[in-house]
Amino acid sequence: MTTPEQLAHGKSGFSRRAFLKGSGAAAAATAMAGGPGLAAEEESSVISGMTTITLDVNGKQHKVEVEPRTTLLEALRYGLNLTGAKPISVDGSSGGSTVIMDGKPVSSNSVLAMECVGKPIQTVESLTGDSGVPHAFVDQDASQCGFCTPGFVMAVTAFLKKHPNATEEQIRDGLNGNLCRCGTYANIIPAVLDVVKGGGNG
Ligand code: FES
Repeated sequence: MTTPEQLAHGKSGFSRRAFLKGSGAAAAATAMAGGPGLAAEEESSVISGMTTITLDVNGKQHKVEVEPRTTLLEALRYGLNLTGAKPISVDGSSGGSTVIMDGKPVSSNSVLAMECVGKPIQTVESLTGDSGVPHAFVDQDASQCGFCTPGFVMAVTAFLKKHPNATEEQIRDGLNGNLCRCGTYANIIPAVLDVVKGGGNG
């Protein structure tokens, strides 16, 4: 027969909440210590509270205090005052928080800051106004409220590094992870094509 306590914690006596709490902390601990390959006892250690980590951002090493739950976006915005990447969607589906990590575009609000230790991170602040992509966005008036623009600029920068001669169709496909609520796509695509024609990607 099931006891009231078992009902509260599941038949195994182990609550779902406790499991999620433990697994999240263990994942953060794993990420901080460098990922797989840890000794079993290290993997099960729990990290809580503030911890200082070093992030490689825009070519410089930055010390930043984070909690295990701190996202890269939060570390950038609130720890390093780099506010280009935007918290538009909680799950990263808007692309507004896009930065480049290890050469690939990532939604910085979908990764834990601790997972990013030792990986080169590039934010929109590293691009100067007269470099290829930002300049093309200005030239083509590819922004209205501008909230999505930093994410787009970083997504375009990463995309063109891989596809410097992209066609319009490839550009549309390649940028489908970024959304613009003002609907400036009709200007964004020509801006990217300008960069392709100019042979630079900012
Ligand atoms: S310019 Fe406003 S959301 Fe894109």
